[in-house]
Amino acid sequence: MPRRLFVTTALPYANGSFHIGHIMEYIQADIWVRFQRMQGNEVHFVCADDAHGAPIMLKAESERITPQQLVARIAAERPQYLDGFHVSFDHWHSTDSPENVELSQDIYRKLRAAGLISTRTIEQFYDPVKGMFLPDRYIKGECPNCGAKDQYGDSCEVCGAVYAPTELKNPYSTITGATPVMKQSEHYFFSLSDPRCVEFLKGWALDGRLQPEVANKAREWLEGTTADDGTKTGGLADWDISRDAPYFGIPIPDAPGKYFYVWLDAPVGYLASLKANCAKRGLDFASFVAPDADVEQVHFIGKDIIYFHTLFWPAMLKFAGYKVPDRVNVHGFITVSGEKMSKSRGTGLSPLRYLELGMNPEWLRYYLAAKLNARVEDIDFNPEDFVARVNSDLVGKLVNIASRCAGFLAKRFDGRLAAIDHGAHEGFARPWAGPEAVAALYEQREFGKALREIMQFADAVNQFVDAEKPWDLAKDPARAAELHRCCSTALRAFRDLVLLLAPVLPAMAGRVQAFMNLPSLDWAALAEPLPEGHRLEAYQHLMTRVDPKQLDALFDSPAAAAPAATAAPTASKGSGGKSAAAAAAPPAAEGTISIDEFAKVDLRIARIVAAETVDGSDKLLRLTLDAGEGRMRTVFSGIRTWHAPEQLTGRLTVMVANLAPRKMKFGLSEGMVLAASFPDDGGGVFLLDPQDGAQPGMKVR
Ligand code: MSP
Ligand code: ZN
Repeated sequence: MPRRLFVTTALPYANGSFHIGHIMEYIQADIWVRFQRMQGNEVHFVCADDAHGAPIMLKAESERITPQQLVARIAAERPQYLDGFHVSFDHWHSTDSPENVELSQDIYRKLRAAGLISTRTIEQFYDPVKGMFLPDRYIKGECPNCGAKDQYGDSCEVCGAVYAPTELKNPYSTITGATPVMKQSEHYFFSLSDPRCVEFLKGWALDGRLQPEVANKAREWLEGTTADDGTKTGGLADWDISRDAPYFGIPIPDAPGKYFYVWLDAPVGYLASLKANCAKRGLDFASFVAPDADVEQVHFIGKDIIYFHTLFWPAMLKFAGYKVPDRVNVHGFITVSGEKMSKSRGTGLSPLRYLELGMNPEWLRYYLAAKLNARVEDIDFNPEDFVARVNSDLVGKLVNIASRCAGFLAKRFDGRLAAIDHGAHEGFARPWAGPEAVAALYEQREFGKALREIMQFADAVNQFVDAEKPWDLAKDPARAAELHRCCSTALRAFRDLVLLLAPVLPAMAGRVQAFMNLPSLDWAALAEPLPEGHRLEAYQHLMTRVDPKQLDALFDSPAAAAPAATAAPTASKGSGGKSAAAAAAPPAAEGTISIDEFAKVDLRIARIVAAETVDGSDKLLRLTLDAGEGRMRTVFSGIRTWHAPEQLTGRLTVMVANLAPRKMKFGLSEGMVLAASFPDDGGGVFLLDPQDGAQPGMKVR
């Protein structure tokens, strides 16, 4: 009986382009989905843009467009990435859609009817100028512990103190610079602490459907933690699901001016996308989401959003009378050369640039697959490792078999296969675990182990070819039968290798299907060796080697799509509350300065002689700058999230040379480097680059 599968990946926020973390998640899920399809299972693989929430609303506002326009612009970029990396979604939707409004409101009404919605008045920071309640990330102020300026509402990047936004001294709104006031408002809550929810979740989360480390987390959240002295803390709290206007979201029924918090309608977007997909294909949506539906519902997500997917989401579905998820497959994060990457912009590896450079998407699919497993483990993209792995496995082992044997078959034997040599075939069966074991590894998402097995098979086939030496056999007309048998045996094995790798290398499998005239790429075909007399087309080269120069180019220059520079001096964020507030405000239309006033700012070209991370701060880099003064300057700059130190060293940039020095916890900062960004840093922060020819010490005017 074929299985029926409903598979999703996390819905990416629609305020930025894909980064390598997104692409990694899609590739992982896509490999699994393609494997399932090869098994003859029915798969519905969907995703959508996560369109709602305050950051998207504010970003659109700062660009003077509507949130819908912003989301549409981002949505228009998606296909080139998805097609480019062969990600085979059946449908891509948006949470800002009629299906999602209807489903979110329906789920809410059912939860309310079940007695699981309550209201409570809470007090929160409010921006009186903007007229809106402030999410924590839009509040800054002075650290209550060390007094450092311009610290975020949750923790101090100078002394590391952790606190609530209400504890900040001289708080200000990063949207308008205004001093926030405390204001009350009625909020809606989903009663997660209700015994029914707790009991259901304990069953759902701890019955073995989750990865062990994920189940452990869920258990901690569900049961709270017990300290050494026996005091219990934690357990589930009710979840605040409402936000006040202005908000870009879905209205809460019967609650004027209230919207669902984005994390309520985001996972419902999985169902909205499935529903749109069903409409497109004439399928019955209800048969997928009814509580007893004969469907496996599988979500692929990253480790940062486990809470939402293992507590809120299953409980929402359960008590609204929908089917609950069968699996939540959690992956770790990808780092690039060991470096963490920001959510808004991938450091280093731009997937779009990868494609634009003409690099083969299947190199990346193979490389990531080789590193992926079923645990919640971070993986690293390492350029040297990438070149070595792809060239040795894909070109050196896989393609090599076909390229060494296909020519002889075409030239000497009309492309037709000789009879099956059972002895040789059985020889290949020994050194690896076999197709069933590989299938089990794919099923469990142990892709790295699956590929290692497959490569052992490839090794055996190569050893066979090395020993038989078809190039020598070809010189002796008397040995034509041996040559024919050798090439046929190797090419039959090559077909098997390609089938086994088809979930990872779909485009290559497609080309091999054409070249070898394969009737099908189903897994079941592995059981049937190609028959005697089967005819192959002329061999076309299947894959080139990676040239290390391509990786230099990939990491050389910044990602292609940079937002227009607004030249906000975001770097060295310690230059006083006022200027930071000004930097955070929308571009000022009014207020001009004279040329003399401008000339007071001493802007100079500086070379970044050294860039280092700063112990105890994940935002700062310590830059050593040569501004042609015969001495070096030290500048601390809050650009670590966006810039790898090794990529900065040697670069020229622009610095403010006459800024009063500022004492910081880590040392004296003697200036500021300039960078471009939007007011909330969404989309990234881009250091200014002078044109070639500029020299350290030149004045910028
Ligand atoms: N919009 C939410 C998800 C809503 S799901 C109903 C969100 N979006 S996101 O764009 O920030 O992240 C999308 C996915 O990318 C998440 O699964 C996240 O874990 C994953 N990743 C983000 N950075 C990543 C890496 N560096 N590496 C691997 N995956 C990463 O969260
Ligand atoms: Zn502090």
